[in-house]
Amino acid sequence: MKLRVGVIISLQWLVSTTIVTGGEGFALSTSSPVVTSRQTTSHEIESVYAAKTISSFDKYKKIHAESIKDPEKYWGDLAKTELDWITPFDDDKILQGDLIKGDVRWFAGGKLNACYNALDRHNPDDLAVIFEGDEPDDIRKITYGEMVDKVSSISNALKAKGVKKGDVVTIYMPMIPELAMTMLACARIGAVHSVVFAGFSAEALASRVLAASCEVVVTADHGLRGGRKLDLKSIVNSAMDIVESTNKDLVKNVLVWERDYKDDSTEEVPYEMKEKDVRMDFLVADQRPFCAPEPMDAEDTLFILYTSGSTGQPKGVVHTTGGYSLYAAQTTKNTFDLAPGDVFACVADCGWITGHTYVVYGSLLNGCTTFMFESTPVYPDEGRYWDMIERHKITQFYTAPTAIRLLMKYGNKALAKYDLSSLKVLGSVGEPINPEAWRWYYEEVGKSEVTVVDTYWQTETGGHIVTNLPGITPMKPGSCTYPCYGIDTVVLDPTNGNIVEPDENGCVEGVLAIRQPWPGIARTCLGDHSRYLTVYLKPYKGYYFTGDSVRRDAEGNHFITGRVDDVINVSGHRIGTAEVESALVLHPAVAQAAVVGKPHDIKGQGICAFCMLKNGYEESPELIQELRLKVRTEVGAFCTPDMIVIAPTLPMTRSGKIMRRILRKIVCGETDTLGDTSTLADPAIVDTIIEKVESL
Ligand code: PRX
Repeated sequence: MKLRVGVIISLQWLVSTTIVTGGEGFALSTSSPVVTSRQTTSHEIESVYAAKTISSFDKYKKIHAESIKDPEKYWGDLAKTELDWITPFDDDKILQGDLIKGDVRWFAGGKLNACYNALDRHNPDDLAVIFEGDEPDDIRKITYGEMVDKVSSISNALKAKGVKKGDVVTIYMPMIPELAMTMLACARIGAVHSVVFAGFSAEALASRVLAASCEVVVTADHGLRGGRKLDLKSIVNSAMDIVESTNKDLVKNVLVWERDYKDDSTEEVPYEMKEKDVRMDFLVADQRPFCAPEPMDAEDTLFILYTSGSTGQPKGVVHTTGGYSLYAAQTTKNTFDLAPGDVFACVADCGWITGHTYVVYGSLLNGCTTFMFESTPVYPDEGRYWDMIERHKITQFYTAPTAIRLLMKYGNKALAKYDLSSLKVLGSVGEPINPEAWRWYYEEVGKSEVTVVDTYWQTETGGHIVTNLPGITPMKPGSCTYPCYGIDTVVLDPTNGNIVEPDENGCVEGVLAIRQPWPGIARTCLGDHSRYLTVYLKPYKGYYFTGDSVRRDAEGNHFITGRVDDVINVSGHRIGTAEVESALVLHPAVAQAAVVGKPHDIKGQGICAFCMLKNGYEESPELIQELRLKVRTEVGAFCTPDMIVIAPTLPMTRSGKIMRRILRKIVCGETDTLGDTSTLADPAIVDTIIEKVESL
């Protein structure tokens, strides 16, 4: 892999696409105004764009106000038009429960199947998936009809291995069509999928399998990335050893897809086969391609997805069949202005929520062609994305600022070689996009003619909650702009929980919360409802708390300014500092560790770990390497610290609490605004740490 800018980012990112709003169903124009000068200022872009969309913007305001005033009408009407129901929901029971009690239910009693909605109801001859593997010539095109047959066979294979409605199936796979198919096969039979990103280590996989009491694991023998083979099966083997050492009989079957399987494959097994392993391709080939979709209650769990928080173990966020499906479908349609025949490319990995909602569910529920990408933006060269857009006539492309910044560093030479005129919408997700990267994306990739949507949301929200809408609401570089339909954002004062009053300029600053439930809101954390309440609903009574701080300007544009908890965002990956710290203290040399985020040109944030060693251990390049390795093996390579600082002690209060705030300031070079250090047990340590960091 050529990496001229000398940076390796954890690249889950590819691209994506869209849909059209329910509501009034007005025709959406996707084109932004033509802004001729490459030097156009953000302000000019905004005003030109705003002028062209003003009437739509008024419509947005009207629909948004209605959706907030009467959410049951708004979502109830949409649920009827956007989804097919086996048993209709009761019009009196569209929304039950509230954010105070934490018992939100949407459409409960209504029955539907998410897989049926995503596949069976569409034209069988339309293209459902275009897959492009690590090598640009590794392409597969799969129609909706073929998807129904294959997913049905996989459903029967899962059933044959004892998977029943409500069982959790862990999926640890590369970005190949079989990953999406396995997710949908679970949905078809009412099993709950738990996809674990294939960059996580064996330990991390094992802890997720154990936490979900999962009896069946689905994997593939290997993945391919940037010309390298990733031996996933060995990682699964190690994970299964760990699982067995805790609960010997938990996992009954490990179903293994083979990358090089052909219909006429020989019986030779291309990996070390263990007792519980089943050759998935052969098992599936033996099944009938028919499996009736299981009628599921709207509130039945569709999937769980583990995500990081500020403390302890990752949380298994629970999403439901009805509410999540509707929210995924509606946001894909609106945000990306989807139209029939669109080729929607979200280049995220299905191991993260973006892959769930925008590679699989949102796009397929809308019947468009979804693009799945296995490789990286710079393999075989930095023109990969642009080449794919030209070859597949991609209409919507969805990636993360980290990839945009990386490609921007390469300059425009590769871009100039390709015809990107198929593009209608460019999307950004995962972290704030800095105006410089926004401008490059808009002006150079989109030729100032394609709307850039900056989509703000979270694993827990199921889909976008704040974003501009193509042709409807104005763009604003660096801002995710306005709340989505049905989302009632408020800015709260973290000191007292009150709604912040605008300052003399009409701006407000505080933490971002949401005042009323929407269908895509996560309902609970698997097996730990009290944690769900504590993290999201109790901090500010009656609100869903996002964990992000925000500034909102006088026009109502939202600017996300960062997490207020101990979560950092590296290349769009959400990482709990506690997870990295727990890994570091497992090394025998480490007495204590504190991890903070550090600004990074490409990744947004990098990981900086401060470690205090036990007596008898000394700093050495070898030890630093071992510590990095420890994090890789305990959590995953994408969490490897960028910088490890060995400190004689950490800045602690007299009661023993590490003051990460001070470490954060030091790594950000803000040593002149350290604030009060008098509560530290040893204030002199601050200067020692500053000197150490400056010497690195
Ligand atoms: O801090 C926000 C940031 O990513 C967090 C959610 O991470 P995760 O659950 O992994 O989901 C990532 C994909 C949606 C948020 O709390 N974030 C996400 N999108 C944006 C963002 N920050 C600013 N602007 C965004 N567009």
